[in-house]
Amino acid sequence: MRLDKFLSNSGKGSRKDIKQLLKSGIVTVNGKPSKDPALHINEEHDHIMIGDTPVIYKKYIYLMLNKPQGYVSAVYDKRLPVVTELVPKEYAHFEVFPVGRLDIDTEGLLILTNDGDLTHRVLSPKSHVDKTYYVRTAVPLKQTDAEEFKNGVVLDDGYKTMPAVLEICENPDECLLTIKEGKFHQVKRMMEAVGNKVIYLKRIKMGALRLDSSLNTGQIRELTEEEVILLEEKE
Ligand code: URA
Repeated sequence: MRLDKFLSNSGKGSRKDIKQLLKSGIVTVNGKPSKDPALHINEEHDHIMIGDTPVIYKKYIYLMLNKPQGYVSAVYDKRLPVVTELVPKEYAHFEVFPVGRLDIDTEGLLILTNDGDLTHRVLSPKSHVDKTYYVRTAVPLKQTDAEEFKNGVVLDDGYKTMPAVLEICENPDECLLTIKEGKFHQVKRMMEAVGNKVIYLKRIKMGALRLDSSLNTGQIRELTEEEVILLEEKE
């Protein structure tokens, strides 16, 4: 990888900043000052420093998005806006993709990353990562719905869902629903299976990771290392 690309990928500024940085002569590669932006370096083995500070290479990035309605959970769509359009420029070179899908009209917690292994582990049907949704329904929910979800309901295609936890809120048109799977339109189809209809859907938790309540819809922030671990944890 070129030295200027390495510095840019490590978040050391814009192309212009990096040009200046190199020109100033404070960048060293294995102890030797280097001003050459095109110098080929090995990001795994070479030791790059800016002054006295080592530059730690970041291979993977993990972003939390509070997804707004109207965006497709994809990196490309012929007609509609996609969630990766919301990624700030500083992360563009990581080429992130969404970990799973939320429907176009669903809001809330969506992780974007370039870590394919983590994505695979989280989405694997065997991993049973809990996903919690805040749901508003067309008609009030009943305690019998909670029993049905606990035992599994049969969806329109004959599939029987795994046990899910329904917590009805004080207002019975609202609930929290925790499921362990991610079938197509699963929450909407589960509500239909008990004669109800979703009118608003927001994911608020994945694994043990909660949506940051200070993130407005459409906002993105990087996960901390601890939060990346929480994503795969059970509570
Ligand atoms: N279930 C749904 O029906 N839609 C989503 O976006 C997520 C879960």
